[in-house]
Amino acid sequence: MSTFDFAPLLAAGLPPAAAKWNGLAKYSFVGGNNDPDIVPVDDLIAAMIAVLKREGATLATYGLASGPQGYRPLREFLAQKLKRTTGIICNADEILITSGSLQGLDLVNGLLLNRGDTIITEAETYQGSLNRWTRLGVNAVGIPLDGEGMRMDALAAALDDLKKRGVRPKYIYTIPTVQNPTGTILPESRRLEMLRLAEQHGVPIFEDDCYADLIWDGRRPPALYAMSKHGGVIHIGSFSKSIAPALRVGYIVAEWSQLSRMLPLKTDAGSGALEQMVLGEYCPKNFDAHVPPLTRGLRKKLETLMDALNEQFGTAAEFDDPKGGIFLWVKLPDVVDTLKLYQPALAAGVSVNPGPEWTTDKTYGKSRMRLCFASPSHEEIRAGVATLAEVCRREFGVPERIGNVERARA
Ligand SMILES: Cc1ncc(COP(=O)(O)O)c(C=O)c1O
Repeated sequence: MSTFDFAPLLAAGLPPAAAKWNGLAKYSFVGGNNDPDIVPVDDLIAAMIAVLKREGATLATYGLASGPQGYRPLREFLAQKLKRTTGIICNADEILITSGSLQGLDLVNGLLLNRGDTIITEAETYQGSLNRWTRLGVNAVGIPLDGEGMRMDALAAALDDLKKRGVRPKYIYTIPTVQNPTGTILPESRRLEMLRLAEQHGVPIFEDDCYADLIWDGRRPPALYAMSKHGGVIHIGSFSKSIAPALRVGYIVAEWSQLSRMLPLKTDAGSGALEQMVLGEYCPKNFDAHVPPLTRGLRKKLETLMDALNEQFGTAAEFDDPKGGIFLWVKLPDVVDTLKLYQPALAAGVSVNPGPEWTTDKTYGKSRMRLCFASPSHEEIRAGVATLAEVCRREFGVPERIGNVERARA
């Protein structure tokens, strides 16, 4: 054990120290993990062998033979897939492959944000984005959602209010297609309105689209990036939710004038090449056939989760049936504080994401939680929800009835 003391030398402003990883909870409803049974392992192996045999020698060069924007066949696949599924017309030169879309968030933030800036976001949103704004000292203005995503009347009012105060927000961040955590899809009419408001106020839109392949009925409105007639949109996406998050492959779609300013901020000399090569080989032949069974399997798991919640929590758990994705956003009775539910639930083997970590308004998030249903099995979903209901009743007195059997209060 070293006796050297690093503490006086640490850089100022470091985030809090990480906790050691102790494995996943027995019943894990956290994170954006995927269904282990649906990872296309055999086809990925075949793709890996084929691409390495053919092009393995290009690993000798940083950026392969494709340059700093990432493996060109993968960017070409993306350009044609985006055209087909989102309406985005772009070529491979307007795509930058990133180490997950998290790196996309960092690059866009690096391009646009300074301490003290203001951005606009859905009031319920992705924790990874919220944490970044906090760390950067950026003021996040939350816009409420309804069943169709961000409310445009509230967005218009917030933009007017900021304008009156002389504040020009740096961007409107939105997850318009299967929103995290609410599972809503912003309809085309609202997208048009958002674009109109953004143009009127001279504010760019930052479109985060990583769940867009996972829609139950397969139908989605065009991307904001595709619909904009004035530019001003940056789009990011990911293979984490459609193929596997551990691959760490995401992408940014932007005009060269923005990409050329983000590339110098990407200081890792290129994202991992093997995973890009495997996806570049796998996707053109297999992506389209892979997604429908994945989505059907996710829908079945969601139904198991909604059934289990109805059975174990009854009316104490309120939720809307999401339009796709891997999360259910659940409202518990007001007495429940999900930040305080977290530890006892974990001690009983169940992990959940407490609502305040996914909201700009922590009071609104207090009795809410996000449950990921993709990675636990159907049996784990049922057993995990039953355990969670027991812990919740012990700690907060709700649900009063569990499994339709009234329990005496302890
Ligand atoms: C809305 C949103 N954006 C970005 C990410 C980052 O994903 P990745 O870096 O795996 O692409 C996630 C992950 O859950 C997310 O939910």
